[in-house]
Amino acid sequence: MLNNKFIFITGGNRGIGRGLVQNLSKNNNVIFSVRKKEKGEQVIKALSRPNLDYIIMDIDNKDSIRDAISIISSKYESIDILFNNAGILIPEYHLAAIETSERSILKTFQTNTLGPLRICKAIIPLMKNGGRIINISSGMGQLDEMEGGSTAYRLSKTALNALTKILSVELKNFKIKVNTICPGWVQTDMGGINAELSVREATEIIVKFSLAEEFPNGKFFKQGEEIPW
Ligand SMILES: NC(=O)c1ccc[n+]([C@@H]2O[C@H](COP(=O)([O-])OP(=O)(O)OC[C@H]3O[C@@H](n4cnc5c(N)ncnc54)[C@H](OP(=O)(O)O)[C@@H]3O)[C@@H](O)[C@H]2O)c1
Repeated sequence: MLNNKFIFITGGNRGIGRGLVQNLSKNNNVIFSVRKKEKGEQVIKALSRPNLDYIIMDIDNKDSIRDAISIISSKYESIDILFNNAGILIPEYHLAAIETSERSILKTFQTNTLGPLRICKAIIPLMKNGGRIINISSGMGQLDEMEGGSTAYRLSKTALNALTKILSVELKNFKIKVNTICPGWVQTDMGGINAELSVREATEIIVKFSLAEEFPNGKFFKQGEEIPW
């Protein structure tokens, strides 16, 4: 397992992101993003680890990303691993595609697809020794088993999966590898209390995959197993 790496995680204050922060900061240097200062302070206080830092950033907003990255690059020499974790789900499970508003689709794309692209654009120049990018996507974006409902979310995650593939090809020469992960159905604000996996269980699987000595490129994984796109 890799250790002592510099890891950046978006959306680290709750849910899967918070679980990743807690687990990864045991043996690595972790910087996580939050939208509100007090949420960052809460995590820092609760975990009380010297190798933990946070930054205020809204992934929908280019200026916010620019300000955050300028602070990160002044404090840290390089970033080794990026988790594009922050995401939204507008609850439209039973709404047909033809009933889904363009507003909903564009809002979800803004965060779930363009957000990770903006973060990659900002973080890749800091991956001076090569790196790993893990896009937290969803089985709901998997073309192979696509179903109805939640159109905005499904489209945004399918597009994120495509972005993973594109980047995995384009970044090969920079020794940066890019993969997509579906964490499974997880007990968070987004997943709800009836979900199959606790945050701890889900993040343990993601951490094991992300820090393994061997790291694939341009693949889609669900709970540690490669799945079709
Ligand atoms: N839970 C599941 O069952 C499940 C299944 C498949 C995939 N996923 C994916 O896993 C990832 C994490 O999900 P989760 O269940 O942990 O969700 P969550 O509990 O709802 O947490 C979402 C996180 O994303 C942050 N966020 C949302 N919009 C943001 C923005 N514009 N800028 C910066 N941060 C933003 C939130 O910050 P605030 O606290 O400020 O809102 C929060 O930290 C998502 O990409 C999700 O699509 C989850």
